Amino acid sequence: TAAYETILVEQRGRVGWITLNRPNALNALNAQVSEEVAAAAEAFDADDGIGAIVVIGSEKAFAAGADIKEMESKTASEMRETDHFGAWDRFAAVRTPVIAAVSGYALGGGCELAMMCDIILAADTATFGQPEINLGVIPGMGGTQRLIRAVGSYKAAELILSGRLIKAEEAERIGLVSRVVPASDLLDEATTLATTIASKSLTSLRAAKATLDAAMQLSLAEGLAVEKREFAALFDTADQKEGMAAFREKRPPHFVHR
Ligand code: CAA
Repeated sequence: TAAYETILVEQRGRVGWITLNRPNALNALNAQVSEEVAAAAEAFDADDGIGAIVVIGSEKAFAAGADIKEMESKTASEMRETDHFGAWDRFAAVRTPVIAAVSGYALGGGCELAMMCDIILAADTATFGQPEINLGVIPGMGGTQRLIRAVGSYKAAELILSGRLIKAEEAERIGLVSRVVPASDLLDEATTLATTIASKSLTSLRAAKATLDAAMQLSLAEGLAVEKREFAALFDTADQKEGMAAFREKRPPHFVHR
């Protein structure tokens, strides 16, 4: 694999792991991290041997936000011209299912990175929030748009306007988190979930993800049209024939991911 400096990358079975690794900065997301995470995710996405991707940080921090020290002296035109967080759009665009396994701080850009993933598994020690308002700015990696879709307008507004941090339990209650697990089980739970997902037909996983993403972006009528199209398209795949034959023959399916 490529020589990454701010992340660790590993394949285990059909699961690709991306571990954020800037321990001295609580995994603050600078330009190098965004480039490396995007490149690693794109490489996994191009590999049909990978059926799920897990993004994880350390016990203390998933990521404590965008790198404040890197941004502090920038001007508005610099932020615009360099599209400061642009690499994250590449990460958000991968077609393979992505699980965020969150322990410790997921603040600002860290919370936003988790929200770019399809599923957020949280350790009971996790803390989420959008504290950008305390820095004189606002969320800039999608937080204003994705949080409102996850938790609704009044919860999102309270969190973004006050900067209040919430623990995993509240995050789960308001719908920001898929599931909370004991911190000591986070790795095992992420492994089990990712392995389960990756065992399914990659073709149908990608169709499911595309349709779920469409629901975030489009009107109901447009989203239903996407679902109709994606559903029908799967009937030309080997895995649809195999999945349904296996059901009829009362045996487990052997997907070929095509
Ligand atoms: N950017 C840069 N460096 C950061 C950082 C960040 N977001 N978060 C933590 N660090 C650094 C600290 O500066 C510190 O470095 P030094 O040892 O060199 O001083 C190191 O990581 C350890 O952090 P702390 O000593 O602060 O650790 P703590 O346990 O006392 O506090 C914390 C933890 C409450 C998470 C605190 O670090 C904190 O408040 N971090 C910033 C959280 C934040 O505001 N995030 C939003 C960033 S802006 C953003 O994300 C914009 C966007 O929408 C994309």
